[in-house]
Amino acid sequence: MTTGAVAELVLVAVTTALAVWLVRAVVRWWRLREAVKQLAGGKMQFPYGTMKEHTSNGSMDYAIKYCDVDPIKPIRYCVSSFMTIVALRRPQDIKNVVLRDEPKSKMAQNLLGDWLGLKSILLLNGPKWKSMRHMLNPAFSRAVIEDYIPTMVESAEELAAKFEQHARTPEEAVDVTQDFSLFTLDTVCRCAFSFKSDVQHSRNDQFTQDFFEMGPETVQRFRNPLHLLGPIYNLTSAAQRHRQRIHRLHTHAAQIIEQRRKELDGMSIEDVTTHKRPSGRALFDFLDICLLSRDKDGNPALTDEEIRSQCDTFLFAGHDTTATALTWLTFCLAKHPECQERCREEIFDLLGPDAAPTFTNLAKLPYTTACIKEAMRLYSPVIAVHRQLKSPLMLECGVQLPAGTTVAFSIFMLHRNPTVWEDPLQYNPDRFLDMTVDAFAFMPFSTGRRNCIGNNFAMHEIRVAMCQLLRRFKFVDAEHEPALQSALVLRSANGVKVKIQPLDS
Ligand code: HEM
Repeated sequence: MTTGAVAELVLVAVTTALAVWLVRAVVRWWRLREAVKQLAGGKMQFPYGTMKEHTSNGSMDYAIKYCDVDPIKPIRYCVSSFMTIVALRRPQDIKNVVLRDEPKSKMAQNLLGDWLGLKSILLLNGPKWKSMRHMLNPAFSRAVIEDYIPTMVESAEELAAKFEQHARTPEEAVDVTQDFSLFTLDTVCRCAFSFKSDVQHSRNDQFTQDFFEMGPETVQRFRNPLHLLGPIYNLTSAAQRHRQRIHRLHTHAAQIIEQRRKELDGMSIEDVTTHKRPSGRALFDFLDICLLSRDKDGNPALTDEEIRSQCDTFLFAGHDTTATALTWLTFCLAKHPECQERCREEIFDLLGPDAAPTFTNLAKLPYTTACIKEAMRLYSPVIAVHRQLKSPLMLECGVQLPAGTTVAFSIFMLHRNPTVWEDPLQYNPDRFLDMTVDAFAFMPFSTGRRNCIGNNFAMHEIRVAMCQLLRRFKFVDAEHEPALQSALVLRSANGVKVKIQPLDS
């Protein structure tokens, strides 16, 4: 065969492969489009999809608008005519996806990968995720969390000192978002990293600002479909600012790791767990596990990049979420003084005026726990999590989604779905006392194998904070109407304001 004939054959093969790929992509797109037309949600327009309806507030107005429209059907988010997310909000649909163990979506990896790294436990899939989870699980064992409680109390005392200041102007409405954010960042630094940060006193420093802005900045990309394409987004000034922020956060994490690496020089996990650390620090924390774990050949189990990736993930996942839960809980308690008073009585009965909470007695706060859960139901800290379907999915409403579709478990809409919850907009903690709740109806920490690894840590931290605050302060309704906003977590564009008053006023 001549060279010309070979070249011709190659050309035909490549063209055929391209044509097949294109036809399959068009067929997939068409099937998804036809399926999505039958769901609930905004009008689909070329080329914006439903975007015109959900560019403001990171899509929260859209979520609220369609919350009880056709609540059996999932909701479509067409971020253009070419990118669609199907938001599931019925327990059965979510259960079907969870049981099939569908992977994290490429979209989540694109949005968070630069910051958290593709080796982050939050973004990994398959056997790599499984072995990372297996390695990190001990950092959240019962014994480790028990050891963390006094540290959480110390951190909560610093928060209480700040609230003391607010209480000097008892009629002033205070936005509690940042105070809680700094408290939880401080707590995760002290517990998971044994790093005594000063963040609660440095509201305006670059590190805390960077953390606070990362969520809104990430979600901002959804306002412009072109920005979801990496090469185009990378040319914008927003991307440049974002990269600088990420660089600063990476540097900060690298410094914490380096400091610990020096401290652990020559030590094994056994040394640390039997308290032989030179500094005398007895806690065995998440960073110890990352640095000291070994593979079967005795080599470090994680590369430097993998360690940094897990650190960034824990700093992010371990603080913004819990801060959001505390913020909305405080808001709900201010709006419902009778629930607040019942929590306070329960805490005083258990601890009296001064005793510090312990791991054992924190388990004896059923009503306070019900209030925490009810606040997380109504104001779910994580609005949605995403998966990518490996094979077609038949929805409860009878529509079939093709393989490759990005689906979201819309935790926010599931928790407000009138077919799942009676009076869904009513704050009623008693519902968590009276009934056993289905794991696919209430899932602030997600559910299944990929649920939140920090679930117990977070619940203890929230209870500790409430024990320390409710015995000193009253949260009073400031008649403030928050404007819900998605910033990876559920924030409010105009803050979350309450009045903070001394208990004896
Ligand atoms: C109220 C507080 C919290 C809420 C509402 C929350 C919620 C969630 C949710 C919904 C997921 C699933 C994400 C997904 O499937 O894409 C998740 C995963 C995760 N969370 Fe949390 N979280 C909280 C606190 C924490 C804390 C305190 C930590 C660590 C100190 C943490 C670390 C993680 C990690 C590492 C994952 C990934 C787990 C995996 O994929 O195996 N979270 N969290």
